[in-house]
Order: sequence, then structure tokens, then C-alpha cells
Amino acid sequence: MPRALAADEIPGLVKLYGDAARRASDAGFDVLEIHAAHGYLLNEFLSPLANTRDDEYGGDAKRRYRFLREVLEEVKTHWGDRPLFVRISSSDYAEGGNIPESFLEYGRWMKQQGADLIDCSSGGIKMVKVQTYPGYQVPASELLRKELNIATGAVGVIQSGRQAEEILQNGRADLVFVGRQMLRDPFWVRTAADDLKEIIEIPTAYTRYGSVWLDTKA
Ligand SMILES: Cc1cc2nc3c(=O)[nH]c(=O)nc-3n(C[C@H](O)[C@H](O)[C@H](O)COP(=O)(O)O)c2cc1C
Repeated sequence: MPRALAADEIPGLVKLYGDAARRASDAGFDVLEIHAAHGYLLNEFLSPLANTRDDEYGGDAKRRYRFLREVLEEVKTHWGDRPLFVRISSSDYAEGGNIPESFLEYGRWMKQQGADLIDCSSGGIKMVKVQTYPGYQVPASELLRKELNIATGAVGVIQSGRQAEEILQNGRADLVFVGRQMLRDPFWVRTAADDLKEIIEIPTAYTRYGSVWLDTKA
């Protein structure tokens, strides 16, 4: 059975997030994303369904946010002003859990702390069957982007170039993440470019027969 962390165990965990950011920096990464979604530890603190603490880390939204606040502070000391994203579960899909509007407050605090983009995913706290369909998580991205004036990312059943473009050009997100469609079609970027009638740069290794490539899409 999982158990609640003792309050004095938390500072050590916060430091580990900072250590991870330092390692990412040393390894030369350009973007860092803090995973506060999908039922992982930070998500458990943020969700009123999982967080039943009555100390300074639970009880109301501000206290539920405290662990993420400390993690963001620690990460920033190692990562500085380079691009920093936070992945959230905008909905717990359960009575009494987080809903997209819960993140108007959390997201405002993230922005104040220097997070650059909120990556709007969902679920993971409760084992519930989620009905998914094209763009099903986009409304949360749209809400936070409009209300908080912060950059957001949209994810979830985004499968075509046109669909991605619709989300971007209508101001519903600043970027889209594509997961499973990239597994189904490892050349998805090229497929999307074709869909949008965009010419993309061909990797040098293919330019030798450039005209053949363009003619046949071999
Ligand atoms: C095989 C697989 C592994 C995944 N692993 C992770 C993960 O480690 N962390 C994460 O945040 N999301 C993970 N996801 C979720 C994806 O990041 C993405 O949010 C989700 O698949 C919805 O987007 P899609 O419809 O474009 O696939 C995974 C998805 C798949 C299919």
C-alpha cells in the first residue's frame, strides 16, 4: 500500500528534482519538462482526490501546490531561464477531483514562477475509462492559454497536419505534441508537411537523388 510522505522526507525529494535538472543541463538538453501529470507524485499532491494531507502540503489549493512550488524553485536554480515546461493532468475525470478550471490558479502560480509552457494532458489519478477523440484535451489548453496568457501545449489524438494547424492558427495552443501517430508513421513530419503543402528540408543523406525523392516520395 502506498503511504503518505512524512513532511521531513519532502525536501530531499525536491533536491532530487534539482539534481535531475542539473544532469539534463550537463547533458545538453535544450528544453526541460517537469512531469506533474498522469498520477505521478507531483500530480498526487495537486489532486484533491489523492492529497488528503492536513499539513502545509495539503488542505487547500495553495498548500497542494506547495510541493510543485518547491520543485519549480529548485529546478530553476539549476536550469535558469532556459525553456521550462510543466505537464499537467487538467482533469481527474472524477467527482471532487481537478478540472481544467482548477489550473487557472495553479497555472497562474506556475507562470509567476517562470514556467514557460503548460503541457495540457489529463488523467492518471483515478482508474477511469476516458473517452478519447480527436483533440479531446485541446479545450484545457485553450482555456489556460486565453485566461492566463501563458504558452500552452496541446496533446492527445492529434493525427494530421491540418488538425495540428487548426489548433495552432486558431490560437488554441502554442505547440502540439504528437505521440502515437508518430509511432504509426515514423515519417509523420513529412506526412504532415505534405498535408499542408509545405516543402520541408530533406536530410543531406537523401539529397543525392533529390529529384527522385521529390517525384516519388521514396
Ligand atoms: C507507448 C506510450 C508511452 C507513453 N509514455 C509516456 C510517458 O512516459 N510520459 C508521458 O508523459 N506520457 C506518455 N505517454 C502519453 C503520450 O505522451 C501522450 O500524451 C498520449 O499518447 C496522447 O497523445 P497521442 O494521442 O498523440 O498519442 C505515452 C503514450 C504511449 C502510447
